[in-house]
Amino acid sequence: MLSDINNRTDVENLVDTFYEKVRANATIGPVFNDVARVDWDTHIPKLYDFWDGILFGTGKYRGRPMPPHFKLNETHPFRPEYFDAWLALFYETVDELFEGEKASEAKMRAVNIASVMEYRINLINEGANNSLIHRK
Ligand code: HEM
Repeated sequence: MLSDINNRTDVENLVDTFYEKVRANATIGPVFNDVARVDWDTHIPKLYDFWDGILFGTGKYRGRPMPPHFKLNETHPFRPEYFDAWLALFYETVDELFEGEKASEAKMRAVNIASVMEYRINLINEGANNSLIHRK
């Protein structure tokens, strides 16, 4: 039987395993590696703090999660399959490693944040299309 996500070490294991899958994924790997050219050495610790904060309220993450995605979307519009792939890998990673209340909470929070992100990105992209139509 698997244990729950109980502490920072577990969060780090979750994040490390998840981003290994992300990097190797045919759909979103290239977005991170080739389009955004993510510096993993700075990105990964942010994600430790982000998820530690979500699950255990540690408050170490002081950033704003949405703006980097809006910025990336300006040059490389997000596609629905990015969210599908991201979430499928996140669920797969959590289920592979953990089981319990925090594990369920992590999946629920991921789907909620991804939905808000997708919704806001869609609004931005529809707005951009509308203004193009209006300009004609
Ligand atoms: C749908 C696919 C997604 C893609 C392609 C994506 C891509 C990215 C990229 C390129 C960055 C900037 C990394 C850098 O600093 O160079 C970033 C940052 C980040 N992403 Fe995502 N992301 C996705 C979904 C998500 C979701 C669903 C969440 C949360 C549940 C999330 C959480 C974050 C956080 C916390 C940061 C750091 C923001 C900061 O700088 O403070 N991402 N993401």
